[in-house]
Amino acid sequence: MDTGLPETEPDGGLGPDDREVPGTDPATSAALAADTAAALALLRDGELTVHGRLTDASNAVLYCTATLDGLTAPCVYKPVAGERPLWDFPDGTLAGREVAAYELAAATGWTLIPPTVLREGPHGPGMVQLWVEPDPDAPELLALQDPTGPDDGWLPIVRADVGGGRTALLVHRDDPGLRRLAVLDAVLNNADRKGGHWIPAADGRIYGIDHGVTFNAADKLRTLLWGWADTPLPPDALDVLHRLAADLDGPLAARLAPHLTPAELDALRARTGRLIATGRHPLPSADWPSIPWPPV
Ligand SMILES: Nc1ncnc2c1ncn2[C@@H]1O[C@H](COP(=O)(O)OP(=O)(O)O)[C@@H](O)[C@H]1O
Ligand SMILES: [Mg+2]
Repeated sequence: MDTGLPETEPDGGLGPDDREVPGTDPATSAALAADTAAALALLRDGELTVHGRLTDASNAVLYCTATLDGLTAPCVYKPVAGERPLWDFPDGTLAGREVAAYELAAATGWTLIPPTVLREGPHGPGMVQLWVEPDPDAPELLALQDPTGPDDGWLPIVRADVGGGRTALLVHRDDPGLRRLAVLDAVLNNADRKGGHWIPAADGRIYGIDHGVTFNAADKLRTLLWGWADTPLPPDALDVLHRLAADLDGPLAARLAPHLTPAELDALRARTGRLIATGRHPLPSADWPSIPWPPV
C-alpha cells in the first residue's frame, strides 16, 4: 500500500544524529517544560512540518516541527497509516495507546512521558509527541559488568552470553527516575521498555518514549527494569498508585476510554489494584519473554 509516507532509505532517512532541521531551542523547551498546557496546545493546534523519517524505528516515525503563535518546537509524528501490524494488538491502535500512556503518566504527577496528543497530520491521524533532546553528557544507565557483580549503585537484569564461552551481567543503574518508570510500566503493562526507550534529558529527568504496545489485557510486561523485582514499592509510589486507582474510577477513565477497550480498562484497574495489594514491584512472568532482546 502506498501511504505517501517518506521513504526511510536511501535518501529520506534521518539517523538520531542526522537532523539537518531546526533542533531544540533551549529557551523554548524550558518554556514548554514549565507549561504543559502550552506544550499540548502547540502539539494539538500547531502547524506540522515534516523534516524526515527516523531510521531506528519499526513504525513510521517522522521528525517534525510544530509551530503556533510564533513558537516552534521539534516533535515526532507517528501516523496510524505507518503502524506495522502486530499479532497481539488490534491494527491502528498504537497511536491511541501512546496518548493513553501519556494521560496515565500525567495523572501520576511524575514527569515521565513527554506531552503527547492524537491529531490529524499530513499523513492522516496519528500521535504527536514533544521531542526530548538526549543529553550527550548524561551518565550511562545500562552496562555489562563482571558476572560476580553488580557494582555498587547498579542492579542486575540478566546474565548474558557475550561469546567465547563468557558471560556478563547486564545491569541498570539504581536510579530513582528509572524506578518511577518501572512503576509506570507495571501499570501500563508495557511490552517494550528497551534501553532505547528512555531518554536522559538535559533537565536531569529520564523520559520514557514509544508506548505503542501498552495496555494489553494479557500480562505482557517486557522490560529491562527488573532490578527492583519483588522489592517493596517506595512510599511515594504507593501514594501515586492509590491516587491512580481512585482516578481510574473517575475522570482518568474517561480520558483513556477513547483509546482502550473496556476489557483493557478493567485489566488496568486490576493491575493497579494488584500492585497496591502486594505493595511490591512485579516479578517477571514465567510464560512471556520478559526481557526485550536485543536490549537497546
Ligand atoms: N519524543 C521523542 N523525543 C526524542 N526522540 C524520540 C522521541 N520519540 C521517538 N524518538 C526517537 O525515534 C526513535 C524511534 O521511535 P520509537 O518511538 O522507538 O518508534 P517505533 O515505534 O517505531 O519503535 C527512537 O529510538 C528515538 O531515537
Ligand atoms: Mg521503538
